[in-house]
Amino acid sequence: MVTDTELVNAARAARERAFAPYSKFKVGAALEAEDGTVITGCNVENSTYGLTVCAERVAVLKAVSEGYRAFRRIVVVADTQEPTPPCGPCRQILWEFCGDIEVILANLTEEKGRYRLKDLLPLPFDARLLG
Ligand code: THU
Repeated sequence: MVTDTELVNAARAARERAFAPYSKFKVGAALEAEDGTVITGCNVENSTYGLTVCAERVAVLKAVSEGYRAFRRIVVVADTQEPTPPCGPCRQILWEFCGDIEVILANLTEEKGRYRLKDLLPLPFDARLLG
């Protein structure tokens, strides 16, 4: 179990490691697993642009590949006044592995919003529909 402040700070530290030479828009994410482990991610861009991977997806895929399957919440940090929410594909990936987790948005100095994933991704497609 980590505190909100610890999770936000982990996302801010991850943001520092972003590889974003093209957009210059650095994003950090910190995902808390059910057992309290924190897995971080940053956006990793590519010169082809289209192969860029968002910070949230890096965090989720790192966690899943390390064997984590249950999560409590994710923090997303960017250097913006308005909250920076996960993009559509990241919401879908988060839903697949994390279900209705808490999504906390923050910038470099303060928290900017708190949501449930089901409110960011209403009417999701998921395994239940595959029968
Ligand atoms: N980005 C993220 O990493 N997460 C978000 O929630 C929004 C966008 C990245 C992708 C790209 O590297 C840069 O931000 C600009 O879109």
